[in-house]
Amino acid sequence: MARIVILTGAGVSAESGIRTFRASDGLWEEHRIEDVATPEGFARDPALVHRFYNQRRAAAAAALPNAAHLALARLEAAGAHQLLVVTQNVDDLHERAGTQNLIHMHGTLAGALCAACGHRWPAPAEMAPQDSCPRCLHPATRPDIVWFGEMPYRMEEIWAALRAADLFVSIGTSGNVYPAAGFVADARRGGVATLELNLEPSQGTRFFDEARHGPATQVVPAWVDEMLCT
Ligand code: OAD
Repeated sequence: MARIVILTGAGVSAESGIRTFRASDGLWEEHRIEDVATPEGFARDPALVHRFYNQRRAAAAAALPNAAHLALARLEAAGAHQLLVVTQNVDDLHERAGTQNLIHMHGTLAGALCAACGHRWPAPAEMAPQDSCPRCLHPATRPDIVWFGEMPYRMEEIWAALRAADLFVSIGTSGNVYPAAGFVADARRGGVATLELNLEPSQGTRFFDEARHGPATQVVPAWVDEMLCT
């Protein structure tokens, strides 16, 4: 049973209608990272940050998993390989497609986090700065999203899985944001085979043993079909 670690990024959800970050019409063209994706930005203007993530939560709720999400769930359900999907995405399209073994390393729009006491609870559709934590009652509610300058979730588990893997596959990510952008180098150091599936060559494309370029809804199902035939 091959152990496969799959990293996904915004490109896997693009064909579901969710905007990526770094395209010419991407989210970071309209919003400054410092304003909406850092703890300092949240401290300065929590209403702006909540508005940004409320919009993204609504966009994710309106989207449906696409053929790439569904293919990854099919590969896991077939049971011939041991899969871990690590996503940088904060939408819930992998779980709605049926993926079970999933880590949201950058958090999730579905979660609320108390900046005062660390308590977590399911996020309502709309969040606002005056919302208080159900446990400590502090009005310090924030989205459960990992911002720049914060440590992504479950890193020890991810690195352990990478070390033990037979294959690392990176899907729909530009390779700009660490530590995820470093997974290909981590995998290679451990002798793990590496494959990139992306619309175009990523920043780190040269580090992969193999790269296939095209829309995720085409290249991912095609790769999954191959994996299920071998
Ligand atoms: P980016 O927007 O940086 O990159 C998306 C990648 O997906 C690009 O390489 C595109 O070429 C590719 N792509 C676009 N459409 C595609 C399609 N239909 N099929 C396949 N690939 C496609 O998004 P990420 O790499 O996910 O972090 O960004 C990483 C992190 O940066 C995000 O998690 C977010 C952001 O800042 C935080 O907010 C902490």
